[in-house]
Amino acid sequence: MPEAIGFDVYGTLVDPLEMNERLEPIAGELSGRLAALWREKQLEYTFRRGLMRKYEDFDSCTSQALVFASGVLGVELSEQERERLIEEYQSLNLFPDVITGIEALKERGHPLVAFSNGVEATVRALLDRAGALPHFQDVISVDDLKTFKPDPEVYRYLTRRLGTEPSETWLVSSNPFDVIGGKAVGLKTVWIQRNPETQFDPWGIEPDLVVPNLEALAEKL
Ligand code: 2OP
Repeated sequence: MPEAIGFDVYGTLVDPLEMNERLEPIAGELSGRLAALWREKQLEYTFRRGLMRKYEDFDSCTSQALVFASGVLGVELSEQERERLIEEYQSLNLFPDVITGIEALKERGHPLVAFSNGVEATVRALLDRAGALPHFQDVISVDDLKTFKPDPEVYRYLTRRLGTEPSETWLVSSNPFDVIGGKAVGLKTVWIQRNPETQFDPWGIEPDLVVPNLEALAEKL
């Protein structure tokens, strides 16, 4: 029986830094820095909220991170602009290799799920708009547990929902912290290194497989 695969969403299936282009008319030459700081802060908020056990969902973290990042860079956003940007965050495009990659993996009989920090309804809407939802048998969200990656509980939850052993479950993510989180509870992991310059954390915890995109993953797995 082909092993089940959980796919991280933001950074792995869709690119949050694509917001760069959508910020351009408002932030001009600061748009790249703003998109990067927004993403960085969004993740930092999830880490801090998880540690503090002061859960607010990923949509809130995203929205509060935008307020912070635009404030730091002095980019003024009206409430309307903020709302529009948050809406646009839910219509990010898939990386070009995603559909072909997951179709090939599905054809080989791997059960595929999306596994995200994102709220289930938000992730479903995002994947549906992008045309990927029908390829996944489920969308599994950390929101059910009111904590975030890389809390070990969320990876155990993934295997519980799949009904699989950690050692027979793959986690596919472009986020090193996510790969290390999954590996730490015994999952098999794939790091999608989309950019050859991206560094992996030197913790001595290594992914089982490193590939540049999902098409390459389908060839290797
Ligand atoms: C996700 O869970 C970590 O942003 C990443 O989708």
